[in-house]
Amino acid sequence: MLKFGHNLFNFEKNNRFAQRIIFLSIPTALVFILLVALQIMSPIMAIVSYASIIIFNVILLFPVTFEMQQVKKYIESLASGKDFDEISMKLSEKDSKAIVNAVNTMHSFWAHKTDILEAQTISDTAVLDSLPDPIMMIDRTGNILGANLSARTVFGKNITDKNIDRIFNSNNFIDAVSKVLKKESTSENLIFYVKKPVQQKLYAHIKQLPWMSKGRAVAVISIYDLTKAMKIEKMQSDFVANASHELRTPLAIISGFIETLQTTAKDDEQARENFLKIMKEQAEYMSSLIENLLSLSKIEMNLDQKPDGKANVSKLMQEVQEALSLKAAEREINIKIREESHIPEIVADAGQVKQVIQNLTDNALKYGLAQSDVTLSVYKADSIPPSKSYKVADGKAVAISINNKGPKISPENLARLTERFFRLQEHKDLNIKGTGLGLSIAKQIILRHRGNLTVTSTSYNGTTFTIYLPVHQ
Ligand SMILES: Nc1ncnc2c1ncn2[C@@H]1O[C@H](COP(=O)(O)OP(=O)(O)O)[C@@H](O)[C@H]1O
Ligand SMILES: [Mg+2]
Repeated sequence: MLKFGHNLFNFEKNNRFAQRIIFLSIPTALVFILLVALQIMSPIMAIVSYASIIIFNVILLFPVTFEMQQVKKYIESLASGKDFDEISMKLSEKDSKAIVNAVNTMHSFWAHKTDILEAQTISDTAVLDSLPDPIMMIDRTGNILGANLSARTVFGKNITDKNIDRIFNSNNFIDAVSKVLKKESTSENLIFYVKKPVQQKLYAHIKQLPWMSKGRAVAVISIYDLTKAMKIEKMQSDFVANASHELRTPLAIISGFIETLQTTAKDDEQARENFLKIMKEQAEYMSSLIENLLSLSKIEMNLDQKPDGKANVSKLMQEVQEALSLKAAEREINIKIREESHIPEIVADAGQVKQVIQNLTDNALKYGLAQSDVTLSVYKADSIPPSKSYKVADGKAVAISINNKGPKISPENLARLTERFFRLQEHKDLNIKGTGLGLSIAKQIILRHRGNLTVTSTSYNGTTFTIYLPVHQ
């Protein structure tokens, strides 16, 4: 801060003030020398007059020079962003004040512009960073000028300033980019493959920026990862192949028997009886397979619709117990229900929850030890165990466990139980009927509810499936 009191100490040394005074008084000095030479004036008189003119000049010029220096320092401090108190300058000259005011106005105008620009840049960056797909800006030579968070995550933190041919090892992609850079085309779309960091199928959209956009960026590249979509496509086609295969087998059996009945076994009463029984079984299997497939596709269709009904789990368990009582009696199994008190109602699709309990209880009856107990328990849980593939719901949950006695399932097989069409070999060998879709259906329903399904199996306790469903959605 500057005060007028110690102004003098702040007066710049190399200010040429003295030089200016001397130069200004040269014409006057010449006049005095002439007056003394012509003896119009006495030398003493001339020196005194000359000295008083110099003093007069100093007094008149000093404030101007000093204030100019103050203004200069002030502008310099503004330019370098330092603090400088313009009020303490105490300017006396009208022009200095006007200059300072003009500089102030200009400064606050640009400071305001900078603030707006900064805020805009921050919000633009935030928007770009929130996009799930990689976006990059490149200059005329293909150097990456900027990349959003997704691009930095997928292709490396320090991709900025690198040339795209160092990031993407695909000739087709590089060719497409150079076409846009050479202005042979305004935009290019293509699908290409990269091996690093992982094998990926990518879709790129390369677009020239409009000519109005100033700056070094000339094109924008947006990239979409098709790897996931490719996996889903593969899963779907595998599923169709599996489903067709599963349907073809019983169909082939039925056709085979029809042919036999029409030819070799035409008049064999005993064989006809046997064959018709098998054909009926196969037809039933086909019908349950189709029913399960339809059920699965229906569940998948509204997988992302939040369930909004109410379900009383205890009531559903009793309904399942009743529905499967005949089946339980066939294997002399006793279905027991264990219930903790005050089980809350849950927000769920009651029909679907019943389907899950029924599928799991049906399995327990089919694959559990005959003449033993199948126990359905329901209890409160503080949270749902996390899943690797999706985010389970937060908050309190209701757990429903279904236990049956029987041999231990190996960990490898345990991990595969919910795969579509997966069935344990031992159960196929024992000719226990099933489609291998019941657990996949259960899993999808639980996924829709943002719950979870766990399974444990030991030779002592048998197999226990536990369904966790959130109380609230
Ligand atoms: N409680 C269980 N105990 C032993 N194995 C089971 C049990 N539940 C399911 N499994 C095995 O998992 C496979 C898949 O079950 P699921 O999807 O319900 O199909 P399905 O019952 O139609 O065969 C069954 O075929 C069976 O081998
Ligand atoms: Mg089943």
